[in-house]
Amino acid sequence: MKRDFIQLVQQGYDQVARDYLAWREEEPLLFRAELQDLAARLHPDAAVLDAGCGAGVPFTLWLSAKFSVTGIDLSAEQISLARQRVPRAIFQHQDMTALDLAPRVFDAITCFYSLIHVPRDQHARVLANFNRVLKPRGYLLVITGNNDLNEDVDNFFGAEMYWSHFDRATSLQTPALACGASVLRDAGFEIMWDRIVADRPSGSHVLALARKIKDPKGSR
Ligand SMILES: C[S@@+](CC[C@H](N)C(=O)[O-])C[C@H]1O[C@@H](n2cnc3c(N)ncnc32)[C@H](O)[C@@H]1O
Repeated sequence: MKRDFIQLVQQGYDQVARDYLAWREEEPLLFRAELQDLAARLHPDAAVLDAGCGAGVPFTLWLSAKFSVTGIDLSAEQISLARQRVPRAIFQHQDMTALDLAPRVFDAITCFYSLIHVPRDQHARVLANFNRVLKPRGYLLVITGNNDLNEDVDNFFGAEMYWSHFDRATSLQTPALACGASVLRDAGFEIMWDRIVADRPSGSHVLALARKIKDPKGSR
């Protein structure tokens, strides 16, 4: 029988939330330039969704100093920590694979290191739902995979954890690489830029800024 990986991830983050936060708090703010690039494109009272916000440190916190921010996360423990640490933001305990938010509300969505915990056969649906809750021409700043990884279950801060993602070309297929379909494009986004980010202690992901330009493929 196929395992319920969403439940595995939820239980894993409930278990390791405090250790993950301690690790995050040690780090300098990652992606400062990219966050500033996004912020410069938004008006001061913009509504931003941080999807898979964790304990809100550092990204939700940084965003909440500038914008009206909603954070969602699968882990109740993460949400509880985030409410303590980021009082200016609103938090909801939600699974991004079953997003329950009104359409066309957000000017931007950020999604750091969380889509990569969702089974990749659900990435298209998650991205289509991100499209749905974004206003027209809204932005998505997202971390996705650099390499092809169908399914990986491994130890993470002492808990069992799951990862799944496509490689860079399948997710993005930027015009510089080739023309054609990609998971993000099919979900109605154009890619503004993307770059490979090296991660501690090893490995790499892709950080991309995309913009909603149409409805997701097959939505009509
Ligand atoms: C690696 S942490 C990243 C947290 C924060 N974005 C950061 O970069 O520090 C991944 C987070 O994504 C959340 N997550 C994973 N799958 C999710 C899902 N289906 N819906 C909502 N959140 C999810 C986890 O609970 C966890 O808090």
